[in-house]
Amino acid sequence: MIEYRNVRVALLGAGSVGSQVARLLLEHGDELASRAGAGLELVGIAVRDVDAPRDVDLPKDLFTTDAQSLILGADIVVELIGGIEPARTLVLQALQSGADVVTGNKALLATHGPELFAAAEQVGAQLYYEAAVAGAIPIIRPLHDSLAGDRIERIMGIVNGTTNFILDLMDREGSTFEAALATATELGYAEADPTADVEGYDAAQKAAILASLAFHTSVPLAAVHREGITAVTIEQVRAARKAGYVVKILATAERLTDADGVEGVSARVYPALVPESHPLASVHGAKNAVFVEAEAAGDLMFYGAGAGGVETASAVLGDLVSAARRHVIGGPGVAESTRSALPVFPIGTVRTRYQITLHVADAPGVLSTVAGVLAKHGVSVETVEQSAATDPGDGTAGTATLVIGTHLARESDLAATVVALRNEDVVVETTSVLRVVGA
Ligand code: HSE
Repeated sequence: MIEYRNVRVALLGAGSVGSQVARLLLEHGDELASRAGAGLELVGIAVRDVDAPRDVDLPKDLFTTDAQSLILGADIVVELIGGIEPARTLVLQALQSGADVVTGNKALLATHGPELFAAAEQVGAQLYYEAAVAGAIPIIRPLHDSLAGDRIERIMGIVNGTTNFILDLMDREGSTFEAALATATELGYAEADPTADVEGYDAAQKAAILASLAFHTSVPLAAVHREGITAVTIEQVRAARKAGYVVKILATAERLTDADGVEGVSARVYPALVPESHPLASVHGAKNAVFVEAEAAGDLMFYGAGAGGVETASAVLGDLVSAARRHVIGGPGVAESTRSALPVFPIGTVRTRYQITLHVADAPGVLSTVAGVLAKHGVSVETVEQSAATDPGDGTAGTATLVIGTHLARESDLAATVVALRNEDVVVETTSVLRVVGA
């Protein structure tokens, strides 16, 4: 029997993820020790209320309300409190005391990442955060380590399970957004206040983290363009399917060159039309997937559970084993690479494709008027489909539905095109404007 030196692990928070981390640490201690080369000794769990009911039965004597004292005696601090404060202060204290930190806190990383990484670098500690993006899916370490020698061009992620569940239900069962949201709430995917998920805030935090990591730069949360799914209609989802697409909300991080030849990045979250043949189109239910396009490796996809207590605990434990190994080996942590300092471009700079659906007057010259608006804004039409006109039967012109697919164009030109179309007399209504994934 090998005698391992123990590393002291302090756990902050015993919610759905924290209590599973504690359980697995206690149940699989020997196995984890053999993988880490060190015993992972859970020295305490800091919580707000030691008597609160928990998902898992854990030894009472591990609990404390004194997080600060717990941190002081730890080699590794696992922060699973969530939110900004007191998590930020406690993580900074832990790093400043020389402890490595494992966190699953996406909000904290997306808003205070540079401050935390600098604090870690200053003392040679390391911050691990595999659980912060896409739950159980290994995506942080692949970007940080496995793909460190490659050049990532673009990442497109389904990184919010709740919204993927809602859009999938709309697609597969014909539910309205409201009905699908109600089901998501009933099943416990959506929170009582679903704003963070359905308005894309949660995905935007993850986009900021992924973009920073993938492009070795700092992408502030405020620079992430964000649109949610509350305006996605069942008609859009049905029409998308008929045309060979699936509506998905994607977090996209992309390397770009602007009109002046300046290299930068973009991070954005919005619902988009994904071709049925794309691997992301087959991500169903509350599952997550991250599609990475790298210069040398080509296309990669990482798929799995994006949330859930025990699933996310798997990612936390992986980080814990890595941190314990580092303690055994010694030496400073690997600093976060943000050296490329690339500008983050606003959404208007991005080149994308739109699908625009219009109700137009069914009269001579309308198609040419519409085409003229696109041409005036430098937007090239790839496809146009006109469906049968409605005849009001009173001798006046009926309306027809036009579905226009554009070639790649600058977002600012596409947005101006949509505004100009809405101002045309022949355009009765713009019923749908969605981006389309594809070259
Ligand atoms: N609310 C998130 C989701 C899980 O639905 O995916 C944690 O980020």
